Amino acid sequence: MKRAITPGTFDPITYGHLDIITRAAQLMDEVVVAVAASPKKNPLFSLDERVELVRSSTAHLPNVTVEGFDGLLVDFAKETGANVIIKGLRAVTDFEYEFQMAALNYEMSRDLETVFIMSPPQYMYLSSSIVRELASLHGDIDRFVTPDVARALNRKFA
Ligand code: COA
Repeated sequence: MKRAITPGTFDPITYGHLDIITRAAQLMDEVVVAVAASPKKNPLFSLDERVELVRSSTAHLPNVTVEGFDGLLVDFAKETGANVIIKGLRAVTDFEYEFQMAALNYEMSRDLETVFIMSPPQYMYLSSSIVRELASLHGDIDRFVTPDVARALNRKFA
């Protein structure tokens, strides 16, 4: 049984994240989306709200579950019984940071592999902060997030 985690802050989940989660679910038996508390990022949505939005956005994927966590990713992976971390790479600018995180996590847990999936061109530029900014300026976000997430964003910025 191959179980992977796809970690992130998901503030909020976008179609870019969903693309990576969907492809991870095709490669693995089980995928646990790990929603980090990330208090330092001062998220717009609470952890519970982010978990709920990821759940509703991934409800159609039978082998995907969603959990929130606070603490080290390697500890969460161990608790979950996952031995693979799957992350998306959007551009060269992501690489250095991701390389550092993957090396650090490997150092802390030698049986945990990090695997990268390339984001497709249409999502290369997408990020949660761009979507939050667009929503705050009442721009059209329907192309970037699911209807549930769009509603939640519009409520925040109403
Ligand atoms: N599609 C769209 N956007 C994407 C994306 C994709 N495929 N992949 C990343 N992004 C964006 C996010 O939307 C986010 O955008 P924003 O900053 O503009 O809001 C940005 O990339 C960063 O993503 P984030 O989800 O915050 O992930 P991260 O790469 O910074 O790492 C954790 C998040 C949870 C994996 C990491 O902080 C972690 O492991 N935390 C636990 C503590 C720990 O173990 N730390 C490491 C050792 S000290």
